[in-house]
Amino acid sequence: MTDDAMDFAGRVVVVTGASRGIGSELARAFAQRGARLGLLARDIGALKRLADDLPTEVTTFGCDVSDPAETDTAIKGVAEQFGRIDSVVANAGVSLPSHRAHKLSDDVWRRVIDVNLTGTFNTARAAHAHLAATGRGRLVLTSSIMARVPRRGLSAYVASKAGIEGLTRALAVDWAVDGILVNAVAPGFFDIGLGSAFGSDERLRTQVLAKTPQGRLGSIEELANVVMYLSGDRCGYLTGEVLTVSGGYGLG
Ligand SMILES: NC(=O)c1ccc[n+]([C@@H]2O[C@H](COP(=O)([O-])OP(=O)(O)OC[C@H]3O[C@@H](n4cnc5c(N)ncnc54)[C@H](OP(=O)(O)O)[C@@H]3O)[C@@H](O)[C@H]2O)c1
Repeated sequence: MTDDAMDFAGRVVVVTGASRGIGSELARAFAQRGARLGLLARDIGALKRLADDLPTEVTTFGCDVSDPAETDTAIKGVAEQFGRIDSVVANAGVSLPSHRAHKLSDDVWRRVIDVNLTGTFNTARAAHAHLAATGRGRLVLTSSIMARVPRRGLSAYVASKAGIEGLTRALAVDWAVDGILVNAVAPGFFDIGLGSAFGSDERLRTQVLAKTPQGRLGSIEELANVVMYLSGDRCGYLTGEVLTVSGGYGLG
């Protein structure tokens, strides 16, 4: 992929869950390619610190994506600030300390579904009019390898991510007529954020690598490259797809 494939100069990109982990690294990657950024998460202090560190125009909004009104206000705020929104990366997500399914509490089930699945829907719905207005909007949702190859004790997380994959296809069908391409990334194991334990805990790392044909964890640049491809103009005849970025985890 050439550098100009990564050129986001003049474009406005929203990243949810940008206060830490993968989201903050995606924000850095887009900023390095000239995008103006709308960053959303609950921790507004962390967003502002990140914004100060980025070489581009950034606007930040404290927002819980499971709350539709807060999400609408934040997305509207980004559009008012920059006059447009070209691409949205719905990255915010949680995986709460969990148990095997028969012991899972109502609270954990609801919170994980509320943030991951409903929060992704809230983000997409809030962004629709702005993405449609450009005639070439790009929406990238965030699944997980867990949607297809679950680990034990993650039923709520797995269900939320499988729901996001279905939502990706449904939104692609609904919004193709508006020029919006809707795709998802399904990351495997990255030594950052929710994946940190798989980098630092030798036992977990060995388990994961044994199921990963490429024999290593992913780098954030490798994930960012796929997210940026799906968020930009080089992605033209591709919608409703889930790109798994996992080094082949679970294939054999
Ligand atoms: N790391 C991996 O290896 C991996 C693998 C597969 C999939 N993923 C997916 O990648 C995404 C990012 O994960 P990560 O590893 O970077 O996790 P992380 O470090 O825990 O970051 C999660 C981000 O989501 C935000 N967030 C959580 N709840 C939110 C809410 N209710 N409203 C708004 N923002 C919220 C957090 O910000 P606040 O707390 O400030 O709100 C934070 O910025 C998630 O969707 C995750 O499922 C990660």
